[in-house]
Amino acid sequence: MILLLGATGYIGSAFAAELASRGVAHRPVSRAEVDYTRFDALLGLLREARPSFLINAAGYTGKPNVDACETHRAETLAGNTLLPQTIAHACAAVGLPWGHVSSGCIYNGAKLRSGTGVVAIPDLTAAAVRPLVETRSPDLLGFTEEDSPNFSFRSPPCSFYSGSKALGEEGVAATGAAYVWRLRIPFDEVDGPRNYLSKIQRYPRVYDNANSISHRRDFVRACLDLWERRAPFAIYNVTNPGYVTTRQVVQAIERVLRPGRRFEFWENDAEFYRLAARTPRSNCLMDVSRLLSTGVRIRPVEEALEESLRTWRPEPPATPSAG
Ligand SMILES: NC(=O)c1ccc[n+]([C@@H]2O[C@H](COP(=O)([O-])OP(=O)(O)OC[C@H]3O[C@@H](n4cnc5c(N)ncnc54)[C@H](OP(=O)(O)O)[C@@H]3O)[C@@H](O)[C@H]2O)c1
Repeated sequence: MILLLGATGYIGSAFAAELASRGVAHRPVSRAEVDYTRFDALLGLLREARPSFLINAAGYTGKPNVDACETHRAETLAGNTLLPQTIAHACAAVGLPWGHVSSGCIYNGAKLRSGTGVVAIPDLTAAAVRPLVETRSPDLLGFTEEDSPNFSFRSPPCSFYSGSKALGEEGVAATGAAYVWRLRIPFDEVDGPRNYLSKIQRYPRVYDNANSISHRRDFVRACLDLWERRAPFAIYNVTNPGYVTTRQVVQAIERVLRPGRRFEFWENDAEFYRLAARTPRSNCLMDVSRLLSTGVRIRPVEEALEESLRTWRPEPPATPSAG
C-alpha cells in the first residue's frame, strides 16, 4: 500500500487518480485526518499503516500565486522545508522508501555551450539569447540534477518559495532512500485555476519567457514509473523534454481553442515586475537525461501541449464532501 500525503492538492489528486487507474492500493492522508506535519503523528501512522512506499505531494505554494509566500513565510517554511525533513526522518526510522515532489523553480535561466566550456545565462529574454531560444539552438542546455540551484537562499536573488523548496531538497538528500521529483509549471487539458494553460488565458497581460514545463498526468506517471522500475533513489527532473516560450503557448491556444481575443504581453521585465509581480519568478530550462536514462518514457512538450489543447474541457464541479 502506498501512503499519499497531500492527496487533496492539485498534484496529490493527480497521483491519487493515477494510482487508482493502475489498481495500486493507496491511502490518501490529509492533515485533517492525521497531522502528518508532526513527527510523532507521522511515525505513529507509518507504524500502524505499514505502507510499502510514501508519496509526499504536500507543500505550500501560495494562493493565488507564489507572491503569497512572501507574506506567509512561516507557512512556506513549514510546508516546503520542515515537512520534507520530518518525513525523511520518519521514513528513515521505519526504513520506508519514499518520493518527494519538489520543483524546478530553484533554477533560473539555462546554460550555454561556448568554445571554452559551459556558462550560465540567467536571462532567457536577453536580446543575445532570444535567437538561440527561438531556434532551439543545441548549444542551449538545461540544468541537470548535478547543477547546484542558482535561484535559492544560497544563490540569491530568489523568491521565498524557491528558497524554501531548495532547502527542502537539502533536508531530503541528507537522509535515507528517497526520490526527489522536480515538477515545473503543471498543465493539462482540464481548465482550472491551477492549470498553466488556464492561467495564461486569464491573465490580463502575459509574461513572455522560456520554460521547461510538466504535463500533470505525465509527471505523476513518470514518478510512479521510477518507483515501479526501482530506479536508483536520486533527484530527477521530471518535465516534458524540451521547452516552450509563452508566445509559442499563446499561438497554440489561438490556433486550437480560438478564444476570440487578442493576447497582450508585458513590454519587458521592468514593466512586469513594476505592475504585476512582487517577487522574482524563476524561468528555466531543465535537462531530463537522467529520467530518460532509466527507461521511463515521457513525451515531448510540444506533443503534450497540443494534446492538452485538443482535448480541452471545463473543470468538473467539486464533489460535495461527506458529512
Ligand atoms: N502547482 C505548482 O505549480 C507546482 C509547481 C512545482 C512544484 N510544486 C510542488 O508540488 C507540491 C504540491 O503542490 P500543489 O500545487 O498540489 O499544492 P496544493 O494544491 O496547495 O496542495 C498541497 C496540499 O498539501 C497539504 N499541506 C501540507 N502542509 C501544508 C501547508 N503548510 N500549507 C498548505 N498545504 C499543506 C494540503 O493537504 P492536506 O491539508 O489535505 O493534508 C494541501 O492540499 C508542493 O510541494 C509544491 O511545491 C507545485
